[in-house]
Amino acid sequence: MNNFSTNRRHFIKSTLTGVAAASSSGFFSIQRSLADELKSPNERMTVGLIGSGGIARSNMNSSKQWLKIVAIADVDKGRREEFNARYALGKATLTEDYREVIERDDVDVIHVATPDHWHTKPVIEAMLAGKDVYCEKPLTLTIDEGKLIRKVQKETGRVVQVGTQQRSQFDLFVKAMAIVAEGRLGRIQQVQAAIGAAPSCPSLPVSQTPSGLNFDRWLGPAPKVDYRQLIDDQGESLSNCHYTFRWWYEYSGGKLTDWGAHHVDICNWALKLNGQTEGPTSIEGVATHPVKFENGYPVQKDRFNTATEFKFVVKYPNGTEMIIRHDTDNGVLITGEKGRIFVNRKKLVGKPVENLKHNPLPEDAIAKVYRNFPMEENNARTAHWGNFLHCVRERKLPISDVHSHMEMLNICHLAGISARFARPLKWDPVTETILEDEEANSFLSRPYRQGYEIEM
Ligand SMILES: NC(=O)c1ccc[n+]([C@@H]2O[C@H](COP(=O)([O-])OP(=O)(O)OC[C@H]3O[C@@H](n4cnc5c(N)ncnc54)[C@H](O)[C@@H]3O)[C@@H](O)[C@H]2O)c1
Repeated sequence: MNNFSTNRRHFIKSTLTGVAAASSSGFFSIQRSLADELKSPNERMTVGLIGSGGIARSNMNSSKQWLKIVAIADVDKGRREEFNARYALGKATLTEDYREVIERDDVDVIHVATPDHWHTKPVIEAMLAGKDVYCEKPLTLTIDEGKLIRKVQKETGRVVQVGTQQRSQFDLFVKAMAIVAEGRLGRIQQVQAAIGAAPSCPSLPVSQTPSGLNFDRWLGPAPKVDYRQLIDDQGESLSNCHYTFRWWYEYSGGKLTDWGAHHVDICNWALKLNGQTEGPTSIEGVATHPVKFENGYPVQKDRFNTATEFKFVVKYPNGTEMIIRHDTDNGVLITGEKGRIFVNRKKLVGKPVENLKHNPLPEDAIAKVYRNFPMEENNARTAHWGNFLHCVRERKLPISDVHSHMEMLNICHLAGISARFARPLKWDPVTETILEDEEANSFLSRPYRQGYEIEM
């Protein structure tokens, strides 16, 4: 199959088939509350994987007690075969073409764990085929892709969980949110996401594509370019492909979306719980890139190009500020009128946290923030999968739904656009457009390579 454009008629047919298959097995009619009930091998849901790289491994390790892998799509033969051997007892069906996974009637849920430029198209096609999806963060490469995903999610009613597992880390991030929700910080004045600096690299030479990798399909909707790779002094592969795709705007947003998707999400969650109703209206800052940019595009094509260092200030009409920066301790700092807390994956600190010793949170405070979903597993990734599977059974919006995710990912994408043009931007959070800057506004979307368009 050469043409990757979505064929609408085909998918409408599959949508009906998919839903019918799920219902006839009685799957959704059983209203049990906990994903834990899927632990018996006969009860396990079946999952089809799209992308079998680094994070797919962690995800399947974390959810293996509930899932059976029946199909794996990866454009790298070696990767799909190794994954099958290690995680599916060699029993999964393997393919290079993810559409074959989506089309299968015996797949209950789809896991999308491809690089960011390959998220939107399979997520939309999976929803149209009647499948529920756990897609890795950041959900999209652009702001307009987010509009499309939300529209299709609403129309199809599919359950889509985004892989921002910090939302299911109960003892740290969720507890921090409960402190906010209980008013222990008062009105929030500033939230700050420290997300780390990104690497630069020397010139990466055009290289022979590794055997078994279909690089043209890996590129998919992105512009056609040569495969580049260099093995550094530590034996690490630096390339425009596996893992280091993160440091190329063609396939990702760099740190701004890689870690931004995690910590800006927590910042935005805190603001919402604190009663912030209006979205931000401007962003300004400074960013350093490892290459020169002209008209928003990197001039040199042979090395990483995303922002290495940056500091952005996002402003809200009521005076609240969000800071996104590369320096200072990785984590989220939330400052309110009555105090401030700092939270990351290892600690939750600050006076309001110490105060809990003599003035504890109400018993249900954390559960309330977690929207009263079951909270069994004390491991963020496992709990996040548990939440997804629970919501699949109960037909509910999961804790990291596409709507809340895009609200904050828009900010990360805006920071990237501002960085690429090296100028401040005005934002209309209602129409989700950049104001008074046609050139920057044209970066809300990106052209898809011919044959890889999303057709609606
Ligand atoms: N939630 C988290 O904490 C977390 C952590 C790491 C990565 N991620 C996200 O997961 C995604 C993948 O990251 P990674 O580090 O695993 O990358 P990776 O490069 O290790 O793996 C991606 C895999 O997708 C495959 N792939 C590419 N195009 C494909 C296609 N069209 N069909 C099928 N397979 C295709 C690649 O061959 C590769 O094996 C990224 O979006 C990343 O941001 C999330």
